[in-house]
Amino acid sequence: MKFALDRRDATLGSVDASVAGVFERGEKPEPLPRGLTREDAASKGLVGAAWERREIKGRRRELTVLHRPDGKGRVLVIGLGPVASYTADGARRAAAEVVRGLRGKGVRTVGFRLSSFVAEGVPSDAAVKAIVDGAGLGAYEFLRYRTTTEGNVEDVTIHLGEEHAREEAPLRRAVDTASSIVDATLWTRDIANVPADTATPEWLAEQARALGKEFSLKVTVFDEKKLAEMHCGGILGVGGGSSHPPRMIVLEYAGGARSGKTVALVGKGITFDSGGISIKPALAMSYMKFDKSGACAVLGAMRAASVLKVPPRVIGVLACAENLPGGRAYRPGDVIRTYGGKTIEVTNTDAEGRVVLSDALGYVIDHYHPDEVIDIATLTGAQVVALGDDTAALVSNEEKLALGLLEASAATGEPIWRMPLTDYHRELVKSEVADVRNSTEITVAGLLTGAAFLEAFVGRTSWAHLDIAGPAWTTPTTRKYQPAYMNVGATAFGVRLLARYLSESGR
Ligand code: BES
Ligand code: MN
Ligand code: ZN
Repeated sequence: MKFALDRRDATLGSVDASVAGVFERGEKPEPLPRGLTREDAASKGLVGAAWERREIKGRRRELTVLHRPDGKGRVLVIGLGPVASYTADGARRAAAEVVRGLRGKGVRTVGFRLSSFVAEGVPSDAAVKAIVDGAGLGAYEFLRYRTTTEGNVEDVTIHLGEEHAREEAPLRRAVDTASSIVDATLWTRDIANVPADTATPEWLAEQARALGKEFSLKVTVFDEKKLAEMHCGGILGVGGGSSHPPRMIVLEYAGGARSGKTVALVGKGITFDSGGISIKPALAMSYMKFDKSGACAVLGAMRAASVLKVPPRVIGVLACAENLPGGRAYRPGDVIRTYGGKTIEVTNTDAEGRVVLSDALGYVIDHYHPDEVIDIATLTGAQVVALGDDTAALVSNEEKLALGLLEASAATGEPIWRMPLTDYHRELVKSEVADVRNSTEITVAGLLTGAAFLEAFVGRTSWAHLDIAGPAWTTPTTRKYQPAYMNVGATAFGVRLLARYLSESGR
């Protein structure tokens, strides 16, 4: 999708559809809001008539589509809900509802009137970014395997009008920033949606190499031989059952500022999670191609970091393997020696994410001495139970890092919620025969025992863990309850959050 700014209002015939937002009205009769007089004029009174008849109430998701009597395109009014509860995410949702409402209707160009999306608490630059996010993400379809599409909006113009014409320069920067992040997010969705027949660990390495070439990132791929030399027993163990050998992929972005800060991003890249010998039942396995979503989010965040020239140096590490049963698969009872020498008792081969991450965390901390490590993983079913499909879990050993991520979450509308890690959880992952065990015999706090396990491999480094098992993926059913900018399938959750965090970090 292409985004443009126009100092003027939408003019006759300049776009296929021009859009204004409207806040929810009360029960009492009210005159047409001043904000809609231009739309009323363009539609030769149709907007006013719809308002008179209370067809336009301004409720959330209410989309009114009117054709101009002169045949020069459409006038759209999108409901924003009560002004008192309006946020940037309201604008993001509204923009997505507009482009989704127009899918398959032959509308290619849409103009948003900025002033109608600005309110107290949602200044013009936040509204611009939200419109770019919502329209760009909302129009997404995964088309790799489809031979037909109904067609989506392709060009979006944000009209400043006399209210905002003087802010053109900063708002242009807001469009550029937001659209690069949207591009990175959509690219990530395209990668994460690819099924495991194609998306093998080596295929992820190829994507990383191509990304590195295009966005000047240094890329190193460790194959199974190299991993053996490095004593990465976790990644090798989990990958043992598959004919597609495991990979550890490292991407480096040099940093835009002299702050000297280094942030490491570590992603779980299980290209398919059958559970291994501790095999999952069929239904639970149905969408386990999504188990590489954390690794894909790291790729997307690295792309955004490079385009946005974020201040810190950023190291991305993807721990990639396919978890299948087989004659060479690791088994319950095995004891694994990981990169740093710490040992893991495997009590359940389905708790494989933490096992591959143990090597990646150990390696990146030992090799790069990062100031902060953030891991992102579809780690536990318990995360989905605790927080649902929309909200990821945050666990951290460092206040500033946690607060920074929560700020980024608020700014991007990718919800995260902090969970408490205690000695109880640390106790639960202790093993009789090794340093830690990868699952516990009592099923409590699965999200936090997963985090306690990872913590054992980060030592004193500032660390944050994002469990994205719920929000990484939507089904046609769960999608119905999500904002319109969430598509069916891979959501690329975390890319926008991490891009924002890195932009604000180490300034
Ligand atoms: N990839 C799964 C986590 C998952 C499960 C995500 C269901 C979404 C829905 C992970 O590898 C896993 O299987 N975790 C186990 C851990 C358990 C065996 C300790 C789980 O959560 O059941
Ligand atoms: Mn598993
Ligand atoms: Zn998994």
